Amino acid sequence: MCGIFGYCNYLVEKSRGDVIDTLVEGLQRLEYRGYDSTGIAIDGDEPDSTLIYKQIGKVAALEKEIEAEKPNRDVTFVSHCGIAHTRWATHGEPKWSNCHPQRSDTASDFVIVHNGIITNFRELKQLLINKGYKFESDTDTECIAKLFKHLYDTNLKHGNEPDFHELTMQVLLELDGSYGLLCRSVHYPNEVIATRKGSPLLIGVKSERKLKVDFVDVEFPDTDEAQPEIPLNSTRGEARNFLPIASNESALRRSQSRAFLSEDGAPNPVEFFVSSDAASVVKHTKKVLFLEDDDIAHIYDGELHIHRSRREIGASATRSIQTLEMELAQIMKGSYKHFMQKEIFEQPDSTFNTMRGRIDFENNSVMLGGLNSWLPVIRRARRLIMIACGTSYHSCLATRAIFEELSEIPVSVELASDFLDRKTPVFRDDIAVFVSQSGETADTMLALKYCLERGALTVGIVNNVGSSISRVTHCGVHINAGPEIGVASTKAYTSQYIALVMFALSLSDDRVSKLDRRREIIQGLKKIPEQIRKVLLMEPRIKELCEKELKDQKSLLLLGRGYQFASALEGALKIKEISYMHSEGVLAGELKHGVLALVDENLPIIAFGTRDSLFPKVVSSIEQVTARKGRPIIICNENDEVWAAKAANSNLATLEVPLTVDCLQGLLNIIPLQLTSYWLAVNKNIDVDFPRNLAKSVTVE
Ligand code: UD1
Ligand code: F6R
Repeated sequence: MCGIFGYCNYLVEKSRGDVIDTLVEGLQRLEYRGYDSTGIAIDGDEPDSTLIYKQIGKVAALEKEIEAEKPNRDVTFVSHCGIAHTRWATHGEPKWSNCHPQRSDTASDFVIVHNGIITNFRELKQLLINKGYKFESDTDTECIAKLFKHLYDTNLKHGNEPDFHELTMQVLLELDGSYGLLCRSVHYPNEVIATRKGSPLLIGVKSERKLKVDFVDVEFPDTDEAQPEIPLNSTRGEARNFLPIASNESALRRSQSRAFLSEDGAPNPVEFFVSSDAASVVKHTKKVLFLEDDDIAHIYDGELHIHRSRREIGASATRSIQTLEMELAQIMKGSYKHFMQKEIFEQPDSTFNTMRGRIDFENNSVMLGGLNSWLPVIRRARRLIMIACGTSYHSCLATRAIFEELSEIPVSVELASDFLDRKTPVFRDDIAVFVSQSGETADTMLALKYCLERGALTVGIVNNVGSSISRVTHCGVHINAGPEIGVASTKAYTSQYIALVMFALSLSDDRVSKLDRRREIIQGLKKIPEQIRKVLLMEPRIKELCEKELKDQKSLLLLGRGYQFASALEGALKIKEISYMHSEGVLAGELKHGVLALVDENLPIIAFGTRDSLFPKVVSSIEQVTARKGRPIIICNENDEVWAAKAANSNLATLEVPLTVDCLQGLLNIIPLQLTSYWLAVNKNIDVDFPRNLAKSVTVE
C-alpha cells in the first residue's frame, strides 16, 4: 500500500547527493504502491542532526522540494543510514505534516517510516499527550516515533542505555496492528532498525567481495529468566506502563550472525537496501533476505542482526539469503507508455511462463512441483474454498466450473472480506485456496490465518515469490507472470486463471473418465499464448471504439453468462478503476429481472457471445437488448455466422476473437476489455498506472 525504502552504506564512501539519489530512485520504483506523498530522512550537517524532506504528491514533487532546499550534496559519508517512504493515506489526509518520515520531536531524535495501521494509536497518543508530547500530525505513525523517544528517555533516567533493538522490542510490545517500519535515531548513528508484522520487508545485501554466507542466524534472548524485563502494554495495564529494562547489561546473545565480515574478520565494505518490495532493490543487488513477522533487523557496523523477543517451537532460527530471479528490465516500461500497457502486451509470454516446465503437451500431462505431493490429500477434501479479492477473486469465479467438473469436489468462491465478516465455518478436511498477485493483500492474509487456525489445508496461487501468502500457505503454485507494476491487474489475471486450470487438471489426472476433456483443455492451453498475440492485434480497432462509440459515455454494461460472467465482472472492474467510468458486469440471465430497465439506444453495452453450451441463451439475452433499441458490441468468435447475420440486420457491432475450449475462452475474451479500459483512460488523460485512490498492494483491511 505504501512503500518503504532504506539505504545503509558501511565503509563505502558516498556523497550526500548519492545517498539522496539512491533513496529517491528507490521511491520511484515503489511509487506504484502508494503515491500521495513522499519523504526521506538523512544525516544533517551538524553531528547528531537529521534532515527530513517531505512533500505531498509523487516522487517528482519531492525531488523538486529537495532541490529547492539546496542541501550540500558534496558532503561525504563513509557510513550512513537513510530512510524513505511513499505513502497512500490511511490515517490523515495527504498533507505535509502527515507525510513520512514522522519524528519524535523537533530535534528528530527518532524518525520513522511505516506501512500498515497501528490500531491502538488513539490510546497511545492520549497516553503520550498526557506525558507532555506534542503531536504534529494525524498519523498513527507519529506515536511510534514518540514512543521510541519516551522509552529511550525513561531507560536513561533509570541509568540504562538500551541497544537499539532492545529499545525496539520495548516499543513493539506497546503496538497493536500491522507494521513494516524503519527507524533511525541520532542516538544510534549509522544504525537502522527494520521490523515487520503483517507488512512485507526485505533486505538486499551488496558487497564488492563475494558474500560468504547464505543465511543469517536469528538471535533470541538466552533464557526466559535472562530476558530483559520489557514494559508491558501500557494501554492495557496502565499501572505497569513504560518500565525501563532492568538490566544494565544486554541480556541478548550476540551470536554467529556477524554475517558480512570478511573471512579474516576484517570489516567488509557493504551496502544494505531495505524495502517493502523487491522492485526497488533489484537494481542494486539480487541477494535478498525476507524478514518474517516479528523479526527485528538491526543494521550497524556493516552487520545485519535479526532478533526475536522469544523462541517459538518449530520456528526457523535462520533467515536465508535468496537470489532474486527478477530482472531489471522486467520492472522498466521499455518502449511502452505505461506499465499497464506493457503488462497487457506481455500476456503471450506471461501465460507461456505460467505453463513452462509444468505441462507436457506431448503426453497431455500436468506437473505442478509445488502441489504434487499434496494432491492425494487435496483429492480427499470434502470441499474446496477459493478465497481472494478483486481481480484475483474473478480468476476464481472464471475457473470454478471447470474446477468442479474436473475435480468433482464442491467449490465455493469467497471474497476474503465477506468470508471473514461471516465467520464462515471452516473444517479440518477443507482445502482453502488463496489467490493473490501480491501475496500481501491484508484481507486475503487474514482469511488465510483464519483457515490455518481451523486446521484447513491451505494452498496459495501467488505471483510474488517470497510474499507472505506464499510463505504461510502449506503449499501452492507460483504463477510466474513476472512483476506486475501497473495498479490494474492484467497479466496476473490470465496467469492465475491458467494456474487454477492446471491445478484442476492435476487433481483429475487419475480419472479415466476425464481423459478426453483433459486432452482437449491441455491442447487448448498450448495455443493460448499465440491466440492472445492475435487478440492483441485488435488494439487499433479498440482504440477507435474508445475514441468514438464509448467517448464521453457515463456508464457501460457488460453482459456474460456461464464462463463469461467472470469476464463481465473483471472487464467492469478494469473500466471502473482505470477510466473512472461507471461499469457493471451483469449475468445475462439476470437481465430480465431488473437490469433491462436501463437498456435504451444510448446505454453502451458489451456482451460476450463466444461459443459454448450456453450460446443459444446468450443470443436470446442479446435479442432482448436489441429489441429495446440497445446497440450492443458483441465479443464473438471469428467468422461466427450467427453474429455476422445479426450485424447485417441490426445495430450491433462485433469484436472477433479466436475460438478456444469453452473453459479457456475467458482468457481471450478479457483482453479486449483490458485494452478498452486502458484506452478509455488514456483518452481522458488519466495517469493509467496511478489511478486515483488506489494502490497496488492493499495491505490494510
Ligand atoms: C520451483 C522453483 C523454480 C524452479 C522449479 C523447477 C521457486 C520459487 N520455484 O518451481 O524456480 O524452476 O522448481 O525445479 O523456487 N508455495 C507455497 N505457496 C504458494 C506458492 C508456492 O507454499 O502460494 C510453495 C510450493 O508448494 C513449493 C514452492 O513454494 O514448495 C515453490 O513453488 P513453485 O514455484 O510453484 O514450484 P515449482 O513450479 O516446482
Ligand atoms: C484490480 C486489482 C485489485 C486486486 C486486489 C487483490 O485491477 O488489481 O482488485 O486484484 O486488490 O490483490 P492481490 O491479487 O494482490 O491479492
